[in-house]
Amino acid sequence: MNILGIETSCDETAAAVYTTKRGLCSNVLFSQVDEHYRFGGVVPELASRSHIEKIGPIVEEALHKASYTLADMDVVAVTNRPGLPGSLLVGLCYAKALAYAAGKRLIGVNHLEGHIASVYLEHDVPFPHLCLTASGGHTALYRVDGYGIYTVLGQTADDAAGEAFDKVARLLGYGYPGGAQIEALAAQGGFKDYRHYPRMRHRGTSFSFSGIKTAVLYDLVARGYYDMHEKRLSNNTLENTIEVASSLLVAVGDIFIDRLSVALAQSPVRAITFVGGVAANQYLAQRIGALAAQKGCSFFYPSRAYCTDNAAMIAFVGHYKALQGQYDNWLLDLKHR
Ligand code: KG4
Ligand code: ZN
Repeated sequence: MNILGIETSCDETAAAVYTTKRGLCSNVLFSQVDEHYRFGGVVPELASRSHIEKIGPIVEEALHKASYTLADMDVVAVTNRPGLPGSLLVGLCYAKALAYAAGKRLIGVNHLEGHIASVYLEHDVPFPHLCLTASGGHTALYRVDGYGIYTVLGQTADDAAGEAFDKVARLLGYGYPGGAQIEALAAQGGFKDYRHYPRMRHRGTSFSFSGIKTAVLYDLVARGYYDMHEKRLSNNTLENTIEVASSLLVAVGDIFIDRLSVALAQSPVRAITFVGGVAANQYLAQRIGALAAQKGCSFFYPSRAYCTDNAAMIAFVGHYKALQGQYDNWLLDLKHR
């Protein structure tokens, strides 16, 4: 079974080929990060236009790198939800047209199921396991019982964890995305908790990150490091920036550990996985790994290339759905399933 995977849910135009015989054969991506950098976040209209320009060449490159042609593919698997509607539509319309014209089957893939599966590209993860997905758009905790069989245990009521990093990085004068910058600054602060931002415990297995971003803002304002009228830093020091970044990262780490501990107490599992763009964070991965070891579970997280958005994970989901006979018809839209 040969699968062409396509992903355009946010600001990455991506295509990959996954086959039963060879596994992952290619994984190609164009990141729009430079196009959005100066706006401090993803501009949906720009994202859609960029996807339109890039999708054709990216798909061709993925097939070429895999040493296949479209004729060799059995299925086109495409992210059809959730994400920016304009961006999703580009990938979905392209995939449908391609599959229809070439006589291939079509499979719509949930982007979040893609993230859950991203760790299977490199690791044999035992079921059941807990999966913590944290990215710029999503933060959720799942119990996963098999390929494509999962239950949402909790999600964020407002901002995603990556969004909190991005927003605080922006407050501190850094560009988008800011997660890696926060990690680098926090390392300089020795991953210590200087400012004691709220953990919002007692939320069971659900998350909320907008409060922590506001707490950072008020903390900066109260100490005279941020001018609310001018909406910019004033009299800030690098030392303060380091302390704020370090405290934020420790607080997010505490929140993750707290929610995972609650979930582990509710339903015992054999492993924990940590996926999504935020899983590129070594400090957070290390803390979750320590919790897993303490609870007698194994722990897995993807390589950086599979943490952030990619089409390899979409092709992988397409592959097991094809083996399960879960195909979609030409009415596939952005709400399906
Ligand atoms: O999965 P992803 O590429 O896109 C979404 O689906 O959102 O995740 C991007 C997010 C951004 O918020 C970025 O700041 C965050 O992942 N991120 C990190 C790190 N690297 C990327 N957050 C914390 N530490 C990192 N090292
Ligand atoms: Zn994502």
